[in-house]
Amino acid sequence: MRTPFVAGNWKMNKTVAEARELVSVMGKELAKVPNVEKVLCPPFMSLLAVANLLGGTDLGLGAQNMHWEDKGAYTGETAPGMIKEFCKYVILGHSERRTYFGETDETVNKKVLAAQKHGLTPIVCVGETLAENEAGKTAEVVRRQTLEGLKGVDPAFATQIVVAYEPVWAIGTGRASSADNAESVHRDVVRAALKDLFGSETAEAIRILYGGSVTGANAADYFNQPNIDGALVGGASLKSDDFIAIARAASK
Ligand code: 13P
Repeated sequence: MRTPFVAGNWKMNKTVAEARELVSVMGKELAKVPNVEKVLCPPFMSLLAVANLLGGTDLGLGAQNMHWEDKGAYTGETAPGMIKEFCKYVILGHSERRTYFGETDETVNKKVLAAQKHGLTPIVCVGETLAENEAGKTAEVVRRQTLEGLKGVDPAFATQIVVAYEPVWAIGTGRASSADNAESVHRDVVRAALKDLFGSETAEAIRILYGGSVTGANAADYFNQPNIDGALVGGASLKSDDFIAIARAASK
């Protein structure tokens, strides 16, 4: 049995004061939701403040990106060891980083291997663009991103990895993928690629999240699918009631 997993990617939203405010409103109720791994991923500036508010709860903390090197002359970047001080999780290869900041399958793979080295749980994002979707290339793109992104990962570490399928056309658009479509990509493309990489038993243990316009109203449709093990949530993770509703849906 895979424990359901719900993560909120706040993206570039909330000042430190606003982050504290949101967590103080949302944290207690969220922490009460049983049998779900729940993770908040605020911007770097707020990690310390949020870490201080999460102490003693079962809520996890994640960063939204990291560099693969341990340290050095990489202005503006954050090293794995710095993230590890506060976080157990790190989002890697989000499509916004691929689109706006030049991330490639190769750099995502370096980051995944750095997460492995430092014992961080990576939430590795894959997903096709609208053009790729319309050209019928979804399976090809998502398979390639999964295989390349996780290349060289130790099968013993692989069960800790979380993969998020986020079709780019569904992110922030309100145009969510149907649950059936997401399930078929999770099963036939992502889990199939994980089987090729790590074998059946390990692949079956890896959580695959859906991301893209998930809300409190549609979350249950996804979680009813056998290969959708949770959600990576953007906009709705900034709304206390919505995010708690999504976690509760995952808990059922
Ligand atoms: P939305 O939930 O706002 O569509 O964002 C999804 C996402 O990109 C989470 O990483």
